[in-house]
Amino acid sequence: MAEIQPVIEVCDLCKTYYMAGGLSQSVLKHISFTIYPGEFVAIMGHSGSGKSTLMNILGCLDRPTSGTYQLSGENVSDKDDEALAIVRGQKIGFVFQNFNLLMKRTIADNVSLPLIYQGVGDEERRQRAVEMLKKVGLEGYEDRLPSQISGGMQQRVAIARALINNPSIIFADEPTGNLDSKTSDEIMELFAKLNEHGITIVLVTHEDDVADYAKRMIKIMDGEKAYDGLRADYKENQGA
Ligand SMILES: Nc1ncnc2c1ncn2[C@@H]1O[C@H](COP(=O)(O)OP(=O)(O)OP(=O)(O)O)[C@@H](O)[C@H]1O
Ligand SMILES: [Mg+2]
Repeated sequence: MAEIQPVIEVCDLCKTYYMAGGLSQSVLKHISFTIYPGEFVAIMGHSGSGKSTLMNILGCLDRPTSGTYQLSGENVSDKDDEALAIVRGQKIGFVFQNFNLLMKRTIADNVSLPLIYQGVGDEERRQRAVEMLKKVGLEGYEDRLPSQISGGMQQRVAIARALINNPSIIFADEPTGNLDSKTSDEIMELFAKLNEHGITIVLVTHEDDVADYAKRMIKIMDGEKAYDGLRADYKENQGA
């Protein structure tokens, strides 16, 4: 039987930021883990522990200082900016805390934006945006502007945009950080539904009830991996 290939394989990953005046800060220290297709992983840890730094490397927005990162079997650790942009476009969907929508463009335009870089024509872009918006429960909102919908809806638009390239993985850095708890639950239900349909999800959160949607949890403490296992086991050991 063919072995299942990991979607993410991180080995001995380190990240050091070098600043003016010869100062440096070692932010990620010898982190290794493997994530398989279909997993739902929550990355947790205190403020400043290195979660966003890790997510930016996993999302091919930044490079490690040392160690290797294989994404769907491809070594992406040493790629230049242009090559990383191509990898992002083909394999990755990213969802941010502040939605990152273009406020002067319609919802449909925002969703189909990544397709412009692939040279997809107007009509197909529109059609795929409509289809994706339906998937996230926003049918009929195509021609509104982001300012004309709620925060939760804006995050749905961002999720639709992340999905438009059929990525093998979605990274989300505090996707519910700007939402109230009810809206936050709705967004997490949407991630859970997407995951049930086979999409791999890695998300950063501070909140326990958000992390509860994930099956696996990785905890980062001062740049080191402090826990990696079932979320339920972690909670049991915490006496929660
Ligand atoms: N571009 C940068 N240059 C220098 N230092 C940085 C840079 N980005 C982050 N850092 C430092 O790296 C450490 C980790 O930051 P990071 O943003 O990864 O933390 P985090 O776990 O995401 O925190 P939070 O929960 O507050 O979002 C912090 O001490 C931060 O000041
Ligand atoms: Mg962060």
